[in-house]
Amino acid sequence: MTKVLDKESIPVIDMSNLDDPNVADQIANAAEKWGFFQIVNHGVPIEVLEDVREAARRFFQLPAEEKIKFSQENSPTKNVRFGTSFIPKAEKALEWKDYLSLFYVSDEESSAFWPAACKNEAIQFMKKSEFVVKWLLQALMQKLNVDDMDSKQSLLMGSKRINLNYYPICPNPELTVGVGRHSDVSTLTFLLQDNIGGLFVGKMETDAWIHVPPISGSIVINVGDALQIMSNGKYKSVEHRVAANGSNNRVSVPIFVNPRPGDIIGPLAEVLKNGEKAIYKQVLYSDYVKHFFRKGHDGKETIDFAKI
Ligand code: OGA
Ligand code: NI
Repeated sequence: MTKVLDKESIPVIDMSNLDDPNVADQIANAAEKWGFFQIVNHGVPIEVLEDVREAARRFFQLPAEEKIKFSQENSPTKNVRFGTSFIPKAEKALEWKDYLSLFYVSDEESSAFWPAACKNEAIQFMKKSEFVVKWLLQALMQKLNVDDMDSKQSLLMGSKRINLNYYPICPNPELTVGVGRHSDVSTLTFLLQDNIGGLFVGKMETDAWIHVPPISGSIVINVGDALQIMSNGKYKSVEHRVAANGSNNRVSVPIFVNPRPGDIIGPLAEVLKNGEKAIYKQVLYSDYVKHFFRKGHDGKETIDFAKI
């Protein structure tokens, strides 16, 4: 990561006054120009944020034999998976990260199968974030001339996955990464980080990186590939990565807001109605996700899969 622009930063958007039309403008502008922004005064209570961060630390501090019960081989459900790195089988070097990935089906299912160390806090974080996620998507849709958000809601946010990420201290941080460069396959990602730092975002149309500084109480939002495709390239799903850290453990908790696996995604009719040419085809979302998980974080753009 040779080029880091120390003086630049992604937009920070204050959501305290949602009646101010400026807020939606800033959001749409950030989604177009940066693909990434932070929100403050978003209404998700600070205790909910602190509780889920603490729950993440609690889960990863469990003895290995407790955590391994949730590995792909051992987990009682495919909706709960504990693992390390990204795709160990496909990687030359492992990424310095453990994770617990939780696919939300229902409250009952989560209560029954998610680990006791973190399930209530993870569910609360999802629930309390719902309003702002919907608001953000609605604002982004309005700027695409999609006025009937209700008809798009399930396509945009029909399924959710919450990950607890743990980046342990790395003895040789120069030899690996926390997470390699990638873009998310989500519609939107709603990410809570802690106060350690280390997330870097690619600056559009350059090969330079920008650090995302921890801001107490903030949430990092980024556009994922599914929204780039649906907006026919107007909103940008930008590459990002996490550096390995030689002196601190770090946790982060992204909520990936996704279409449902069986949805067909493609440029929205409203976007194309003025004669704009589609640059992406219609793809089955689960095929798109499969393609993402077939390869390591190799810097090759996942979205090429959907290009015409
Ligand atoms: C991810 C990701 C960033 C972070 O999980 O897709 O990019 O700060 N995480 O953990
Ligand atoms: Ni990501």
